[in-house]
Amino acid sequence: MKFFVDTANLQEIQEAHDLGVLDGVTTNPSLMAKEGIFGHDNVMAHYKQICEIVDGDISAEVIATDYEGMVREGELLAELHPNIVVKVPMIRDGVKAIRHFSERGIKTNCTLVFSAGQAILAAKAGATYVSPFVGRLDDVSTDGLQLIEQIVHIYGNYGYQTQVLAASVRHVMHLVQCAELGADVVTCPLSVITGLLNHPLTDIGLQKFLADHAKGNK
Ligand code: G3P
Repeated sequence: MKFFVDTANLQEIQEAHDLGVLDGVTTNPSLMAKEGIFGHDNVMAHYKQICEIVDGDISAEVIATDYEGMVREGELLAELHPNIVVKVPMIRDGVKAIRHFSERGIKTNCTLVFSAGQAILAAKAGATYVSPFVGRLDDVSTDGLQLIEQIVHIYGNYGYQTQVLAASVRHVMHLVQCAELGADVVTCPLSVITGLLNHPLTDIGLQKFLADHAKGNK
């Protein structure tokens, strides 16, 4: 399972990269705004900086919601760097735009997916990735992980090449369960990735090993 970090914060991206387990980055307009990145030139420069840190797929989201606008924006984004994946919302014109990009060899990430039907449409359109939002479904009393299971199963039935990118992954158990269910990728905050390190028995065990080693060296 690939690990993507879901942030536009360069320090966090660098830290995730330095850990040695990072496969890519996802961003969205909210995450860019959180970092204070506004305006076309700043946004493009920021994506370039991310591409310089991480040698893996970097999702950059279009803002337009009409087909022509999405195609225009997506093509500009794709020209920035070969690792850019054009992130397109699951709306009617978005599906058409994904088909357009897929026919031209431009990678896409179909975002804001909340149902298996939407995931089937994304795969039919030729999306490289589909992003079901686990945490946001949980937020409205719907089992987000069940959707991951359903999509993995459906894609398996037909051998769809679209990769299941579990998004809105909020905690360590989300990530572990996505791995159990066979998600191809999870994207999450850095804290979820570093959270995988934690186990009190590891800390206690290490303290004991070091204490015993120190006894022999007295
Ligand atoms: O990748 C989508 C993600 O950014 C949404 O996460 O926690 O805002 O639901 P969240």
